[in-house]
Amino acid sequence: MRKTLTELANQYKSDKGDDAIGLREAWGRGMRDEVHGYSLYYDQMFKHYRDEPIVFVEIGIADWRCPGASLKMWYEYFTQAKIYGYDNFWHELHIAKKESVDPALYENDRTKIFVGDQGERADIARFVQMTGAIDILVEDGSHYPHHQIISLGALFPAIKSGGIYIVEDIQIPGISNGRHNYDNIEALNMLTRFQQTGVMSSEHLLPQEAEYLASHIARIEFIFNVEYSYLMAVIVKK
Ligand SMILES: C[S@@+](CC[C@H](N)C(=O)[O-])C[C@H]1O[C@@H](n2cnc3c(N)ncnc32)[C@H](O)[C@@H]1O
Repeated sequence: MRKTLTELANQYKSDKGDDAIGLREAWGRGMRDEVHGYSLYYDQMFKHYRDEPIVFVEIGIADWRCPGASLKMWYEYFTQAKIYGYDNFWHELHIAKKESVDPALYENDRTKIFVGDQGERADIARFVQMTGAIDILVEDGSHYPHHQIISLGALFPAIKSGGIYIVEDIQIPGISNGRHNYDNIEALNMLTRFQQTGVMSSEHLLPQEAEYLASHIARIEFIFNVEYSYLMAVIVKK
């Protein structure tokens, strides 16, 4: 029997899994709310892609507590995918004061990394040249709402028709956990307003990005994990 994504998340100590005790032991810190439980949904959502030659992207892959954990998990789960990780390696470059990132720590025959800021459209444009059209994108970067919005606007054109763009850790005031702006619900507002009215607007979107999103989103599904209090948006492209 092959391992589920949740088993792999727990094995590699990604916070996408559901093993709070294992994470606390590995990270030397952490409470129950450190685990997000997203892998439980991904196991259902991604099972048909498992052995397909897809292009898979994750924004945010170098968490200082578990560097590269999710990349290892995706690599083992998706047996034929090309996997691209995007990160500004803020901790390594600015806190640990390393001069550069060593790709060898993260890359292998099917996994490549890109050093860039998810809030910078110029970085995203260079990244997309590297990946080509994308089947599935998971955004697990800074979780700041303005970054979530900029990345969605700049990256959505690169998603294939029928492809999936996921924004993890959408902020809900007073409920979401972690290092996030509790009082900032811009991303949640923007996406729910679109669901209700068909209008996409945000001060963080360029007019052409807003127009593109409005005309190319097939549907948005919000998944709220009651046990861990985390919310993600699953955005499917027409
Ligand atoms: C929660 S961690 C990712 C964890 C990883 N997905 C896993 O499950 O193992 C968030 C990552 O986002 C990155 N990040 C933060 N701000 C960013 C930005 N502006 N642009 C790109 N990456 C950023 C951090 O460097 C960190 O590696």
